[in-house]
Amino acid sequence: MRVINISDKVILEVKNLVIEYPMKEGNLRAVDDVSFSLKSGESMGLVGESGCGKTTIGLSLMRLLKGGEIKAGSINFDDNDVSILSDEDLSKIRGKKISMIFQASQNALNPLQKVASHFIDTFKAHDMWSNSKWDEINKIIERIEISKDRINEYPHQFSGGMQQRIVIALSVILQPTLLIADEPTTALDVLVQAKILKLLRELKSEYNLTMIFISHDLGVVAEITQRLAIMYAGQLVEIGTTKDIFANPQHPYTEALLNAIPDVQDKTKKKQISIPGTPPDLRFEIKGCRFASRCSYRKDICNEEPPELLNIINGKIGGDNPNHKVRCLKYNDDF
Ligand SMILES: Nc1ncnc2c1ncn2[C@@H]1O[C@H](COP(=O)(O)OP(=O)(O)OP(=O)(O)O)[C@@H](O)[C@H]1O
Ligand SMILES: [Mg+2]
Repeated sequence: MRVINISDKVILEVKNLVIEYPMKEGNLRAVDDVSFSLKSGESMGLVGESGCGKTTIGLSLMRLLKGGEIKAGSINFDDNDVSILSDEDLSKIRGKKISMIFQASQNALNPLQKVASHFIDTFKAHDMWSNSKWDEINKIIERIEISKDRINEYPHQFSGGMQQRIVIALSVILQPTLLIADEPTTALDVLVQAKILKLLRELKSEYNLTMIFISHDLGVVAEITQRLAIMYAGQLVEIGTTKDIFANPQHPYTEALLNAIPDVQDKTKKKQISIPGTPPDLRFEIKGCRFASRCSYRKDICNEEPPELLNIINGKIGGDNPNHKVRCLKYNDDF
């Protein structure tokens, strides 16, 4: 049985985060008032379709946004406010305490560098290199099921799945507190994907990592997370335990995402159901609910009034249980 070690210590607290990319036409608000927290050892999935702001949130946690600006809110990591840390203090956290498997990281390895020197450079970047680290390198290389006598080969001599395993090993070698995995399995075929997920799940418990797992696919995050944050057009629309969200999705978008998971048990249900329509353009102000134009529950009020993210319990808005929240007007008494 898998033992998950979650302590009560809150390791990451994101509060009312707003991130914008300046554009010619005005600012593109990629992340709009997002709040969540993570306890030590917890694993949260950040899920939503392309362009909803997942990577932007991931990058902001290390202040690695390219062109984007944190306009409001705070990011508290291990008692530091990341949004105001000096570059020097940030460099001590990046890669060491918070590590990220970047989206499309299959291409992250330097083709001119042997695998071994990627590991050596990772230690050196934090002044942690010494010959005694070879033991750790050899151990993790074998852990990811690559023979340690291949350590002096170049990245192109490995398969895509092996390269991704090397990237993962590099992301945990310094034993980070928080690992952000941004679509770590997307470019891989299904069997390799399953192997990578298994590896991440095992490393998570071996290294007692706190993890944010970013994906557009609810099916992929189901087994590796205890909690889910569902994003739509820059906002959280539902947040809750993975178990609750799968058993009892509350937001129409979450419902649609769940329906889009192919059913491997039911061979008659071959076709994936996609969600008709597209998300709104984030460069312009949006009136009402952002999901309204694609929502099968839509009423006139949805085009007028922006819903708030509120606690929900037993299918009713209210109560003081912060463990499940939803942003939808259909729970209003007068809907
Ligand atoms: N460097 C940038 N400059 C301008 N706009 C950007 C930049 N990076 C992202 N955006 C915009 O911010 C929004 C959120 O992008 P982001 O990459 O965070 O989405 P995502 O949820 O990770 O999508 P995907 O699933 O495709 O990776 C999008 O509208 C995108 O076009
Ligand atoms: Mg992304």
